[in-house]
Amino acid sequence: MFAKWPGSIQTPRTLMPKTAPAWRPDAAQEICRLAEMPHNAARGFTLYGGDDDEKLEVIIWRRGDALTGFVNQCPHMGLPLETFPDRFLSADGTALICSAHGARFSFDGACFTGPCKGQSLQAITLKLRDGRIYLSPETE
Ligand code: FES
Repeated sequence: MFAKWPGSIQTPRTLMPKTAPAWRPDAAQEICRLAEMPHNAARGFTLYGGDDDEKLEVIIWRRGDALTGFVNQCPHMGLPLETFPDRFLSADGTALICSAHGARFSFDGACFTGPCKGQSLQAITLKLRDGRIYLSPETE
């Protein structure tokens, strides 16, 4: 059943698969140089494997000297968080915001307000070596 008024149209609750991308690199893969990550900023990166379907979108968030990383997929509907490149953080820099429906995530990836409150972004393991940030494979 469809409502007459656009503001009240009901949409399916799941528009995209909420499962995390299946592909992960099987060896450490460089994401960027640490110098490319400004303090108190978040950036998005796309990692590619050898095949066309081997792709992983990640977010790196630097707060002071601390780094954290997540798969760029909101636990609410499986969408990427940003609408514009590298526009992830709230104005005060204390939360990642999903641009789709406003979920906010703390530095550990937990959603503390919004439609997926209580769920978390999927964390990735980062390694810092020789001034470069690597995605560490899960088997390491
Ligand atoms: S997709 Fe709805 S809050 Fe992120």
